[in-house]
Amino acid sequence: MFSWFKNSPSNASAEGLLATKADQKGAKAQFQSLTVREVRRETSDSVSVAFDVPSGGSFRFIPGQYLTLRTTIGGTEVRRSYSLCSSPLSGELRVAIKQVEGGIFSTWANTELKAGDVLDSMPPMGNFILETDPSARRRYVGFAAGSGITPVLSILKTALEREPESEFVLFYGNRKTASILFKNEFEDLKDRYLGRLEVHHVLSREDQGSDALFGRLDADRIRYFAEHIPTVTKADGYYLCGPEPMIHAATDVLKAAGVAPEKIHFELFTAAASPAAAAKATADKGSATGDAYVTVVLDGEETHFTQSSKEFVLDAALDAGADVPYACKGAVCCTCRAKVLEGKVEMAMNYSLTDDEVADGYVLTCQAMPRSERVVVSYDA
Ligand code: FES
Repeated sequence: MFSWFKNSPSNASAEGLLATKADQKGAKAQFQSLTVREVRRETSDSVSVAFDVPSGGSFRFIPGQYLTLRTTIGGTEVRRSYSLCSSPLSGELRVAIKQVEGGIFSTWANTELKAGDVLDSMPPMGNFILETDPSARRRYVGFAAGSGITPVLSILKTALEREPESEFVLFYGNRKTASILFKNEFEDLKDRYLGRLEVHHVLSREDQGSDALFGRLDADRIRYFAEHIPTVTKADGYYLCGPEPMIHAATDVLKAAGVAPEKIHFELFTAAASPAAAAKATADKGSATGDAYVTVVLDGEETHFTQSSKEFVLDAALDAGADVPYACKGAVCCTCRAKVLEGKVEMAMNYSLTDDEVADGYVLTCQAMPRSERVVVSYDA
């Protein structure tokens, strides 16, 4: 039988690829080449992809983070962000990719990608993270739906391995048993962490013989869990990843049950097209008029251009020829993060920057529209 816990040959220490926020401070959002080590089928419509770990340490990560991948498909450059599903402690760099209808990258990855292929990737990024502490004794609760399990799996594995006194309760929504990502891995993890890991599979199209577990992870069901499983509202940290309605439902129920908002962490998992379209609609409704003179700073170089106040800074910067970083263009991944050094901008949406980052002047440039005549943003800050 194969083992889910096998370490990759690149695992150099007990901490593997584990990074801290401090390690990543000032890291550059620059693409590097990654070689595919293995493409493994997980379900009928999803694969996980492991990469050889480049030397130099820039691909160390905090559980919950993602890779922004770039390749050319049919002559068009395509970028997508995929969360790492491996624990950094394993030394493995592995993402999961679910095929979505009409998804160019996900279809290609599920049908054509193979070991030995080379992709471009930015170093691991993202704020949906857990910084573990071996001396901690904590309880974590996760709510995930579909491929939203990917970062939660990395968080869960790292927490259980690195914090021997901590426990994790997971509610995982899918349509049916066959669509559960990492189903066998969860069985192995439950055996390995007996008494410290609880996994509740909630299936919307398959009756498992329990009303509580038959349906969607909506507000009523989450409220039921909160009322009937005492540990659910008494956790030290909550990790939510899935579509927006599930995240809102879980957040509302938890807050109503008295959970402090700062304990609730979430990441939106959705098709990139929809939030971008929503942001565009918001931008089009913006009241500001006129043009702004904008400077973007990237790798110490300045690009200057004039743009409409109804246009996003990222799009205008790309049009001006600046090779600024981005992936989702939908407020989700935070690859396009930059700091406003001068002037004012307004974001249409933000699903990924923390409140502290916003307070420090960081914005998602894919969502930022100028609100002053002169704006300077830096991707280096
Ligand atoms: S490109 Fe993903 S948040 Fe801006």
